[in-house]
Amino acid sequence: MQHPQTVLFVDDEVNILKALQRLLRSERMNVLCASRGEEALELLQKNHVQVVVSDQRMPQMSGVDFLSRVRERSPDIVRMMLTGYTEMDIAVDAINQGEIYRLITKPWNDDEMRATIRQAFDHAGLKAEIKRLNMVTREQNFKLQDMNRNLEGKVRERTKQLGAKHQELRNGYVQTIRALANAVDAKDAYTRGHSERVGVYASKVAREMGYKREFIERVYIAGLLHDVGKIGVPDAVIAKPDRLDPEEYAEIQQHPEIGAKILEPVDFLREVVPCVRHHHEWFDGSDRGYPLCLEGERIPLPSRMILVADTVEAMTSDRPYRDGLPMDAVYAELTKYSGSQFDPTCVDAMIRLFDREGESFIKKDQQFDIYEFIEG
Ligand SMILES: [Fe+2]
Ligand SMILES: [Fe+2]
Repeated sequence: MQHPQTVLFVDDEVNILKALQRLLRSERMNVLCASRGEEALELLQKNHVQVVVSDQRMPQMSGVDFLSRVRERSPDIVRMMLTGYTEMDIAVDAINQGEIYRLITKPWNDDEMRATIRQAFDHAGLKAEIKRLNMVTREQNFKLQDMNRNLEGKVRERTKQLGAKHQELRNGYVQTIRALANAVDAKDAYTRGHSERVGVYASKVAREMGYKREFIERVYIAGLLHDVGKIGVPDAVIAKPDRLDPEEYAEIQQHPEIGAKILEPVDFLREVVPCVRHHHEWFDGSDRGYPLCLEGERIPLPSRMILVADTVEAMTSDRPYRDGLPMDAVYAELTKYSGSQFDPTCVDAMIRLFDREGESFIKKDQQFDIYEFIEG
């Protein structure tokens, strides 16, 4: 609500008050008068006053005292002092202390007095406006902070939802890959579940070696898919119970390359492709490895893990010509070929797993959830 402009004059001389009232009669403002400080303070409590003009020399309460009390109670009221030349030093003090807006000397010039009062109202209006704007700004700041908090919450929530969706998609695609791996294993009755177990063993090795989630997942997927190229090898060769002749062996040796070729066009398997291609390289780089006789660190690490896992799985599974071999035999084989066929660090990790998990490590019907395993 806009209050009417009201000025309060305080002076112990009635004539001065009368003169001021006369002077402002034609102005659009209320004029209040008091002859003592106490009386003036009471008027201020009952009226909405924007401008106060006080004489300095008054009985009981001086102008400086009165104005400083006004300042304490209502700092927004614009305060001015009316003073004779003889009281200039006091008045100047009052101004310097920031107590008053303007000093008016007696006798005053009528036009100047009117102009000064109008300026005082402008000043009061300006101060009120600044105060109002400050409050609006503060309020808006609070609102903004509130909105920010809400937004942060929403972003967190959305991120969580996205994470869950992402996980769902990953799960779906791992299931698809598993189905593919199973189809490959089904070409030979003796290799049922081979790919899944190689994936599990290899990812256990990766975790044992301290690798992080993303890498372990890649090792698992590469393990699942390592023999996918056997799709392109004739069933008769794959399921042949006897020793392979050199030609058949050469055909079998194609499977890493065929597998890589099958996976290459699949975008999200790009990193898995080299792991599949090189899972039969020998660590020493000898030509017993294939397809490229890569050596040591040039063989992708997941491939080196898969080769160890592949050997463990193959040795401990039944074959047409023998039952699955005991852990001791596997242990001996890994140790014997550590450094030539196998990366010793992968062998060491595998042996630590044997020592810790014993026979249960090669249990055939392990339920395996890669994500539970990674988190756990
Ligand atoms: Fe293989
Ligand atoms: Fe294999």
